[in-house]
This record gives sequence, C-alpha cells and structure tokens, in this order.
Amino acid sequence: MTDSHSEHLPVLLNETIAALAVKADGFYIDGTFGRGGHARQVLAQLSDNGRLIGLDKDPAAIATGQALEKEDPRFTIEQCSFADMTDVVNDHLWQGRVDGILLDIGVSSPQIDEAERGFSFQKDGPLDMRMNPDAGISAAEWLATAKVEDITFVIKTLGEERFGKRIANAIVETREHTPIVSTTQLAALVDKAMPFREKNKHPATRTFQAIRIYINNELEDLKVALEHSLDVLAVGGRLAVITFHSLEDRIVKRYFRDEARGDDLPSNFPITADQLNPRIKLVGKAIKAGNEELDVNPRARSAVLRVVEKLL
Ligand SMILES: C[S@@+](CC[C@H](N)C(=O)[O-])C[C@H]1O[C@@H](n2cnc3c(N)ncnc32)[C@H](O)[C@@H]1O
Repeated sequence: MTDSHSEHLPVLLNETIAALAVKADGFYIDGTFGRGGHARQVLAQLSDNGRLIGLDKDPAAIATGQALEKEDPRFTIEQCSFADMTDVVNDHLWQGRVDGILLDIGVSSPQIDEAERGFSFQKDGPLDMRMNPDAGISAAEWLATAKVEDITFVIKTLGEERFGKRIANAIVETREHTPIVSTTQLAALVDKAMPFREKNKHPATRTFQAIRIYINNELEDLKVALEHSLDVLAVGGRLAVITFHSLEDRIVKRYFRDEARGDDLPSNFPITADQLNPRIKLVGKAIKAGNEELDVNPRARSAVLRVVEKLL
C-alpha cells in the first residue's frame, strides 16, 4: 500500500549548500531532485535571475517537481537520467555556463517506503526496483531469464556478497518451479540460502542492493554523469556528490583524485604539479553527517559528500 505520508529528509543539507557556494544569479542543476529538499535550499539562495533545473528518473519525483515548477518560475523539472544531463544543458543553451551541480545518488525514502515500488525486502510488493517503472526491465523480469553466472556476478560485485553463488543457484532452482515475483519471496529465498545470519543485518540487504544497482544501471550512470558534469560546468563551477555506499564513493573519489592530478605523466617528468593541467581542485575533505543529523536521520549514516571546483 502506498504510504502517502512518506517523505525524504535531505541528507547533509547545510553542508551541501555551503559547499556549492551558490551564486545569487547562478545556473544550477540538481541531478537527483527526489522530493526537492536540496533543490528548495538552492532556490532560497538564488535571485530572480538565478535558475535551477531538476532531473529525476522517478515519476513521483517528477510530479513533485512539476508542482514546484508552477510555484517558482526559476525552476524547471525534466524526467531523465543524470547521465543525460548534457542533452538537457544543450537544450537550455547552458553549455559551459553551469555554476553548480548536485548529485545525491541512490534511492529516496519514499521509494523504499512504498511497497509497490519493489525496493524493500521488508515490505511485500512486486519485485520491480526500477526508479522509472516505465523504462527498462523489472528485477522480476531479469531474474526470470538471467544466466546463473550473471546473477552470481551481480550479487557478488554490486552487493559485495560473498555468498552470491549460493544465492544465484537458489534463485535459478526456485524459478524452475515457481516464478520469483515478490520482494518478500526473494528475501525469504536469500535468507534460506545463507549459511548463517549476521547480527543486526537482514540477510537479503546486499542482494537487494546489488539487484537494484544493476537494474537501474547506477554505477555506469554515475561514471558518465561525473564526466559530463565537468564538461558542462563553467570555470569556477562546483560539483557536489553525495554517495551512500562504498562502491559509489570509490568511483567518485578516484575520478576526482585523477582529474585533480591532471595529465598522466611519469612521476620523474621535470614539470610542476600545476603544469599537469588539472581540470579540477578538491574543495575540502570528504564530509560525513554529524551526530545531530544522525539522531534525526539514521539514513545519513553512510552518506559521504565530496565537492570539487572546475579549474579549466
Ligand atoms: C537520495 S534521492 C535524492 C533526494 C533529494 N536530494 C531530496 O532532497 O529530496 C535520489 C533520487 O535520485 C533519483 N535518481 C537515482 N538515479 C538517478 C539517475 N541516474 N538519474 C536521475 N535520477 C536518479 C532517484 O529516483 C531519487 O529520487
């Protein structure tokens, strides 16, 4: 059943807005609009000349964005992946003029809370897991036909689940006589396949994470979006990225480190660091939520914010 009261508390809100150093007349992109928690704070810093475009794949996020669009002429919402932001930027003639981009990646609380979206192993719903249920294939459709090796690979690499092979075998054995179509059915199947239970962690946590990341192409979209963000930013523009697990954070951290280092020349090459033409500089260190935020929003526990500024 839909929980119409389900809301999303924006994570690291003050830290993100401060790190973006919002310019009153600036042009901004929120690549993960969600319920607009961060977006509204960006709008609060903008003058009448400032502009914000929100992107999201999710139809419920788009509906919230459309309501905001009616209230605020400085704001526009578009339904697409943040990996397609270059197209949006070109349509708006913003190429090289963007002052800041926010990517607060992963799932929103309403997506998890609404059973029929199929993201939660705790609530019974159809096994869907698509951020945009009108595009691509659902988790159930994928599990119905995928090869056991592919299921193993996804669960092991994207879920960092060492029992990926056992779980994949159990899925393939089960689907021979019973289609796997609901979240709790998959959760129970994973639970049964695990050799032991971990304390304070549902046995299906990592498997659900893996399948969700795969179905939504999350890591690939992130890699593309990081590159495109640096392309469309103005010099001096900032990119802020919030991640929620180590696989994503590793991608962001490495990309930023490499781009901040510049040209890949041998270390004994006789030039100074600034002659390596770094595209960006790191703005501060990685930021995590403080105790005050964690008290009200335990979901912020694994959030990491990294920020860079474009140099050239
Ligand atoms: C953590 S929530 C963002 C919450 C938002 N900052 C707020 O304050 O309400 C992540 C959102 O990003 C969306 N999303 C995830 N991957 C996406 C992608 N590749 N392109 C566009 N939106 C994406 C999800 O649908 C979800 O609404």
